Amino acid sequence: MSLKLDTLIPEHIRLFDPYRPSPPDAELMRLNGLDHLHRLNNNENMLGPAPSVRELLADIEAGIVPIYPHGDSQDLREALSATLGPDRERFLVGNGSCELISSVVKAFCEPGDNIVTADKTFAVYEWVAAFSGVEPRLIPLDRKQRFDPDGMLAAVDDRTKLIFVCNPNNPTGTYWDEATMRRFLDAVDGRCIVVADEAYFEYVERPDYPDCIRLQDEYPNLVTFRTFSKMYALAALRVGYLCAGEDVTDIIRRTHVAYSVNSMAQMAARAAVLDRSPFIGETLAMVRRGREIIRETCDALGFTYIIGEGNYTMIKTPISDTLLQRKLLRRGFLVRTMTGFRFPNWIRVSLVREPVLEAFGETLTDLFR
Ligand SMILES: Cc1ncc(COP(=O)(O)O)c(C=O)c1O
Repeated sequence: MSLKLDTLIPEHIRLFDPYRPSPPDAELMRLNGLDHLHRLNNNENMLGPAPSVRELLADIEAGIVPIYPHGDSQDLREALSATLGPDRERFLVGNGSCELISSVVKAFCEPGDNIVTADKTFAVYEWVAAFSGVEPRLIPLDRKQRFDPDGMLAAVDDRTKLIFVCNPNNPTGTYWDEATMRRFLDAVDGRCIVVADEAYFEYVERPDYPDCIRLQDEYPNLVTFRTFSKMYALAALRVGYLCAGEDVTDIIRRTHVAYSVNSMAQMAARAAVLDRSPFIGETLAMVRRGREIIRETCDALGFTYIIGEGNYTMIKTPISDTLLQRKLLRRGFLVRTMTGFRFPNWIRVSLVREPVLEAFGETLTDLFR
């Protein structure tokens, strides 16, 4: 029997280039003869999770494994409601916030519609749109590497259903302050849904940074995404959430797969929300020190860099980013190349513990001295 695959595949799937994740750490270590690998590529928080979350995970009984999780993460949504304010019905929990991007696109877009976002940002908005037959309109960042509100507004038409604003932006760390966010939402005037992706919300220490959950009372078209993968250090468990007005959450829930968040993830995320230890303050101190180390290293080498919000920085490399990635990997440091983010010959470096970043700085200096 011959399979006529070509006739089965929609054009937008045939044209889509799949994302290829890096190999497992053990394989990278074997291939590069390493006994340790420092991960500076995925903006993980190696200080965590918080002690109470660690204890809870260590005590989980295998007896819970045969039982399905809560289908809609009710206990976790209750903890989010108690901590952040909005009613639990306004939260939707996903298998990472990546799953929520899919749910929102499925809920609001049909082929022929478009989404608006930036060209140099978290690529999953663009990818989900593209493989859903929805046009991604990618607006260049402005001269200061920020999302460009006027450019984005000019791209909106009557087929625009969603606007994704990554705030702060991954990878540049730039952000819209509250006045800019409000001006933008006023200009959109409810014509489409605006998603504020606040994956790095807990890392931002600026007084003018907007909390887009709080703004939802005034802007009913505003959807806020957050994740437990970054500050809360639960990346392996895959759990993120969105908050929106009850009507909007109700629409998105229709396209969201129930039971997609496992029991361990729900329990750990709930404990992380309720944790009151100094863990977040310690992480913020680590990130502040990390920024200083990168600044000192790059200044001494004469390298251009971007230090913004979030637990990451960008460095412009004098050689190809893939070549530098390979050289650093051989020395035990895994960084993210930025050509795929449309920043050719830049790397992104996660801000991790001081001794690791000091060693990274020494290695970079050694390579380019
Ligand atoms: C801006 C942004 N949004 C969303 C995500 C996805 O997070 P999650 O692990 O919750 O799927 C990431 C992960 O890197 C991110 O940088």
